[in-house]
Amino acid sequence: MKLSIIENAHDNQNAKRKLRAQIIAAYSGIIRAYAFVRFKIIHLRFLEEIEQYLPDGGTILDLGCGFGLFSLYMAACKPNARVIGLDIDARRLQIARDAAAKLDIRNASFVQQDLRAWRPDQTIAGAYALDIFHHLPVENGNRILVDLFARLESGGRFLLKDIDTQPRAMLWFTYVLDALMSPRDDFYYRSAGAWQRQLAASGFAPIFVHDLWDILPYPHILLICDKPR
Ligand SMILES: C[S@@+](CC[C@H](N)C(=O)[O-])C[C@H]1O[C@@H](n2cnc3c(N)ncnc32)[C@H](O)[C@@H]1O
Repeated sequence: MKLSIIENAHDNQNAKRKLRAQIIAAYSGIIRAYAFVRFKIIHLRFLEEIEQYLPDGGTILDLGCGFGLFSLYMAACKPNARVIGLDIDARRLQIARDAAAKLDIRNASFVQQDLRAWRPDQTIAGAYALDIFHHLPVENGNRILVDLFARLESGGRFLLKDIDTQPRAMLWFTYVLDALMSPRDDFYYRSAGAWQRQLAASGFAPIFVHDLWDILPYPHILLICDKPR
């Protein structure tokens, strides 16, 4: 399937809405329903926000890419970049690869990786992590930040989208949904301030913290972190 709409996805809003619909349609059954809901939670306004901070070329990592929804979205919006999705779950990655093939998106690839043991070995222009760090034990998360910083090109950027610990009721709402989706996992939520301190300790500067306000009761935060030139 050739999608001229995807090639032009960086041009306009309507194309992005169609791109989102095409990505959702590239999945089947329950995963399609999940993709629909996930694109409601991380909706186009958030994605545009994230997309604008990422480089247009070079290697961009999607840490904890899951079924690859947003790797495919970013790859389509950034045709000169190479998006690599990393996830521990081989089944999710295969579903991501199948969706990429259906959409004929060739600048996205998917690699199985337990991020707890990850040692990046390539130069990276940019990276983002959407709701993955609270799935990782704090010591693993901290080590990943250090290694990621070391591998980012100078002037490179890392975007961390996670969940703040305030307001408390919103954190509980998120926790209940996380526990339903991943009943065997533990969760390691951190406050925006704790994230800022840890990112600064890893070398990132400046770090901007952006609350992503939404009608859904998630305490979303986006941290925009640069590796100084
Ligand atoms: C909430 S999902 C987010 C997926 C994707 N970023 C998104 O926004 O749709 C969390 C993902 O983290 C992955 N994950 C959890 N622990 C991991 C680990 N140790 N290494 C790599 N991926 C992991 C899970 O397999 C899952 O796909």
